Amino acid sequence: MRVQEQGVVAWEHLRLPPFSQVALRVLQLLHRENVQLQELSELIASDPAFAGEVLAIVNSLAYAPRFPIHSIQQAVAVMGAGHLQGLCLTVGVRGYMGQSLGNPSIRALWRHNLACAVIAEQLASAGFVDRDAAYTCGVLHDVGRMALASVRSREYADLLCTHRGTPASILECERELFGKDHCEVGRDLVHEWKLPEEFEAIVAEHHASHADGEWGMARLVSLGCRMADAAGFAAFPACGSASFAELLGELPVRERKLFFTDVESLAYEVGRKISAIESL
Ligand SMILES: [Fe+2]
Ligand SMILES: [Fe+2]
Repeated sequence: MRVQEQGVVAWEHLRLPPFSQVALRVLQLLHRENVQLQELSELIASDPAFAGEVLAIVNSLAYAPRFPIHSIQQAVAVMGAGHLQGLCLTVGVRGYMGQSLGNPSIRALWRHNLACAVIAEQLASAGFVDRDAAYTCGVLHDVGRMALASVRSREYADLLCTHRGTPASILECERELFGKDHCEVGRDLVHEWKLPEEFEAIVAEHHASHADGEWGMARLVSLGCRMADAAGFAAFPACGSASFAELLGELPVRERKLFFTDVESLAYEVGRKISAIESL
C-alpha cells in the first residue's frame, strides 16, 4: 500500500500553505471585548477577493436574504458579527485547501467539516449554546485534517480511501504517516495562529470521549462530527459510525426534544446548505 511505503514524513519538514490572514484576524478580533463593527467591516473589506467570497455566501441560497447584500458593512448589520465570523472562516478553510479540493476524498473531508459546522449550529439552536460560535467551532474542528490534506493530499487521500474503522482509529495511521495526528496538528495550528484558547480543546479533543463531561461546546462539536458521519457526510468512506438513534441518546432532554428526530431530514438540511456553498 502506497501510504505505508512512504514511511513517516516528519511534520516539521512539511511546508504548510498560508492561512488567510483576514480570516485569522477576524477570529482574534471577535474574542476581544468592545469590538467596533466598523473595525470588523474594514478588516474583511481590506481583502477584496476575500470580501467578495464572503458576500457570495451571504447572498447564496443557503442564507437567501430578503434583499441583496452589497457590502460587508451591510452584511455585518444584517447577519451579525458572530455569524459573519463563521462565514469568514469557511472562506478561509476553502482557500487553505486550495487545489487539494479537486481530489474527491479531500472534497468529502471538506463536506464533512461543513456538515459538522451546520449540525453544531442546529444542536446549539436547540439549546442554550451560542449558535454562531458553534458553527465557527465546527468549521475549525478538523482543521488539522485540512493541513494534512493540503500538504500531502495524495498520501492523505490514499489513507482516507483505504482506512476502515472508527474516526478515532485513523489517528494512529496519521501518526505513522506524519508523526502527528490531525488533532495534534490542529492544536499546533491554533497556537501558531494565536487563536483564542477555547478553540484548542475543540480541535485537539473532538475524538476523545466526552461521555462524562458537561453539555457544552466540546461535547456538542464532538457529537456534531459523529452525526455528520451518520448522516452521510463521513470523513472517509469506510468510517464506522454510531447509529443516529444512539447519537440522539447523547443529547440532553431539551435538545433531544427540539432537534431533528430522523436522520433523513437532518441530511437534507445539511446537504442543502453545503450545496449552496459549493455552487459558488
Ligand atoms: Fe477529526
Ligand atoms: Fe470531524
